[in-house]
Amino acid sequence: MAAPTTQNHFKHTMLLLGLLILTSLHPTAGQVGSFFGRLGTNLPGAATTVGIYQQNNIRRMRLFDPHAPTLRALSGTNIRLMMGVSHPDLRDLANCPQAATAWVSRNILRFPNVTFRYIIVGNEIEPESELGPFVFPAMQNVYRAIRAAGLGGRIQVSTSIQINLLTRWNPPQAAEFKCSVNWFIRPILEFIRDTSASIHLNVFPFYAYLNDRANINLSFALLQPNSGVVLGGVYYDNLFYAIHDAFVAAMGKILAAATPLSVQQLPENNGTKTTTSSGSSSGGGHNSPPGHGSVPLGSGDDEIMAVTDGPIATVDNARIYINNLMRVVRTGTPMVAGPIHTYIFATFDENLRPGPEYERHFGIFLPNGQPKFPFRFQ
Ligand SMILES: *[C@@H]1O[C@H](CO)[C@@H](O)[C@H](O)[C@H]1NC(C)=O
Ligand SMILES: *[C@@H]1O[C@H](CO)[C@@H](O)[C@H](O)[C@H]1NC(C)=O
Ligand SMILES: *[C@@H]1O[C@H](CO)[C@@H](O)[C@H](O)[C@H]1NC(C)=O
Repeated sequence: MAAPTTQNHFKHTMLLLGLLILTSLHPTAGQVGSFFGRLGTNLPGAATTVGIYQQNNIRRMRLFDPHAPTLRALSGTNIRLMMGVSHPDLRDLANCPQAATAWVSRNILRFPNVTFRYIIVGNEIEPESELGPFVFPAMQNVYRAIRAAGLGGRIQVSTSIQINLLTRWNPPQAAEFKCSVNWFIRPILEFIRDTSASIHLNVFPFYAYLNDRANINLSFALLQPNSGVVLGGVYYDNLFYAIHDAFVAAMGKILAAATPLSVQQLPENNGTKTTTSSGSSSGGGHNSPPGHGSVPLGSGDDEIMAVTDGPIATVDNARIYINNLMRVVRTGTPMVAGPIHTYIFATFDENLRPGPEYERHFGIFLPNGQPKFPFRFQ
């Protein structure tokens, strides 16, 4: 009996090794990270949080702004970082190259053992807001300072945009940026293309569903398999893909329109690469915006997806969404080949986030580091 057992044991070990090697060579492994928002009074400290990332095999982190304790805790860990710029710094970064140089020294060079990958200059800055005009020049100055520091090839400079810059998302092919924001987005997209960076998209089927509950099937919004629909003649598996591709279509139009008239042919890849943040709240589900979501369609309307779905912000729905999200970002969308680097919003519930109750329930971990529901980063 001893020999076969040993042999079996050997076979098992080899199988396991094979699986491990396959997993680590898998090109899509580690594409999903988590967004460590810190707008809470009951959050674990930086070191504990980084420990939670390591225990759960989360190999990417997004931070809203440079937070020295978190940067110290990330040192030497191999967790790749997407880091934002504090909004009050945007004006100086835009006006003053020296400010960008100082910012890079203080927040990047001082942490040589942190794996910075993306700097996000402004999160969802409204073009018409006071800070709108500063985003693009700040991106340029931060980019120049990073390049001057010798990190040009390693760290991309980008910004983060949201769906309200678009005229529509349905059908995705018909999406365009609002004319009023073209002055804002066009130089940003050209810059991102020219520096081989990626635009960061906040893709939240959660909000699309809340705002148009009568017309969106909950399973489509939760990315459930086999709940797809045909939009503009193309089969869309889920609402994440549809919103993502609406941005892609809108960006393609801007870049095509921006091509100099003398250029006969568009470059081979005129598409812009994307990264995303996404998530789904698990609480406060009954506080949908007033006037939305309660009007059932007539039964004759079988073209449009149906009604009667309950609140989206439940623990069950968040579990379903997050697990489906991890699956769908591994492959591409109808317009763009995958995988799509994605940051789950958010690591923890943040009890100081303003707005309706559901805003304070986006976390996937409890403050004690236990997962709020089962999921697996790979
Ligand atoms: C970075 O890591 C190296 C090698 O582990 C170490 O010698 C160095 O002190 C670290 N630097 C900082 C600033 O943590
Ligand atoms: C939503 O779509 C799913 C999958 O196609 C379907 O089973 C379900 O009945 C739909 N829900 C409603 C309320 O129509
Ligand atoms: C480039 O843009 C044009 C116009 O939008 C589009 O037709 C074409 O498919 C795009 N090519 C690539 C490779 O994205």
